Amino acid sequence: MPVNQEVLVDIDLLQKYDKPGPRYTSYPTAPQFHQEFGPPEMDQELMRSNTGTDVSDLSLYFHFPFCDSLCLYCGCNVIITKKPEKIERYVQYVKREIDLFADYLPADRTRKVRQLQWGGGTPTYLTADQIRDIMTHLLDRFEFSGDIEAGVEIDPRELTTDRLIALREMGFNRASMGVQDFDSRVQETVNRVQPESLTRKHFQTLRDLGYQSLNIDLIYGLPFQTDDSFNYTIDRIIDMSPDRIALFNYAHVPWMKPHQQYFHSEWLPSPGMKLKILKRAIDCFTTAGYVFIGMDHFAKPDDELTIAQQERKLYRNFQGYSTRAGLDLYAMGITSISQTRDVYAQNVKTLPEYYDRLDANALATFKGYRLNRDDQIRRWVITRLMCDFELHPAEAEQALDIDFQTYFSEELDRLSRFEEDGLLIWHGETLKVTALGRLLIRNIAMTFDTYLQLPKSEKQPTYSRTV
Ligand SMILES: C[S@@+](CC[C@H](N)C(=O)[O-])C[C@H]1O[C@@H](n2cnc3c(N)ncnc32)[C@H](O)[C@@H]1O
Ligand code: SF4
Repeated sequence: MPVNQEVLVDIDLLQKYDKPGPRYTSYPTAPQFHQEFGPPEMDQELMRSNTGTDVSDLSLYFHFPFCDSLCLYCGCNVIITKKPEKIERYVQYVKREIDLFADYLPADRTRKVRQLQWGGGTPTYLTADQIRDIMTHLLDRFEFSGDIEAGVEIDPRELTTDRLIALREMGFNRASMGVQDFDSRVQETVNRVQPESLTRKHFQTLRDLGYQSLNIDLIYGLPFQTDDSFNYTIDRIIDMSPDRIALFNYAHVPWMKPHQQYFHSEWLPSPGMKLKILKRAIDCFTTAGYVFIGMDHFAKPDDELTIAQQERKLYRNFQGYSTRAGLDLYAMGITSISQTRDVYAQNVKTLPEYYDRLDANALATFKGYRLNRDDQIRRWVITRLMCDFELHPAEAEQALDIDFQTYFSEELDRLSRFEEDGLLIWHGETLKVTALGRLLIRNIAMTFDTYLQLPKSEKQPTYSRTV
């Protein structure tokens, strides 16, 4: 897909669309998961998906929830601890969960792991010995493919080089580093003081150790940020020249993450200011040669993320954009979400529940969801929109065996307001998202989400706002 670099930001228009909405790392989204899907159902699904002729390769995700201190904006599933024995206990239980999943695999080791991701929390809060312990255990039980993409999330604070060496020796070849903002007032307010020199030092070590496709995470929408203040961060990031940049829209969900209540509302930038920051960032990063992948990602033109998007082979999963489609995802650790062709399954959320399950030799599944045919069809459409920023109804008809116009007649009607506002345009038989529409892709995708059309029972909004 030719990538239009020029994104004209119409602030009034964007504010009109500012409402809570999912990020579509899955469809249906997590609020649809239910507890009637538990360990017995997951057991059946794992048996089914490991037999027959259409067994796929694998992606593995590990959730390490521990952090040394709490960043007050944090929306992740974290446990703050300074107790090494607490982390060590978790490491030993994760190894047990690896055994549980490995028991389902075909004995001939034909299922290969083609993608591995360690996320958190802070995976680099594990010691080098713990990293080696888990990976040795994993490599014994799972067959890794030669072209594996193995990534890890890194917090430069309290980081020691021996951990980066251990990860590299154990096969990690991708890394993502949290920065968020270099401005000292912002850093102090969010309780994440991270000197630039420290970030640069570890970033250089990652390069020296041969990690590829280095990513840096930033957030816009944090307290006291302005477009001018954020310029300082943008300049420094461009100078560091990561292969990818994730610029996340701050998800302010204090009803789910009470520590976020610490931020007085007047400290937070207005929606208008957030859009100015976003516009400045898009202008600067694209001028510096990055391609705006969409949603919240930028990548260099030769990065596999950009290439996958150009070839329309980009895909979305719980970790965001991915270049590897069609893999079953086995997720381990508390709160993590597995995905097979027809199923999503989330693990229990607390350590005692996790340990109880594994002590009983049971899967840690807490809730899940089996997709019906309508879900599969809508997932296909939403994924293509979120990844390609265009939709080919003819392709959908072929892939999904439907008559697109008939199946989505109501949705097509609802899309007309996006066309009127210049967010979507028909090019012959192809529906294209315009440069402006890319900023509102969540809103466009929401049109195809059946569950958002149902009456709301929750009192609180479940999702963060789209702008
Ligand atoms: C698990 S953390 C990354 C690793 C490590 N814990 C760190 O912070 O450096 C994943 C990323 O999620 C993003 N993040 C966390 N809370 C967020 C929120 N409320 N809204 C948007 N992005 C958020 C941050 O950019 C963070 O780097
Ligand atoms: S942003 Fe990263 S380091 Fe900070 S609390 Fe969240 S997971 Fe931990």
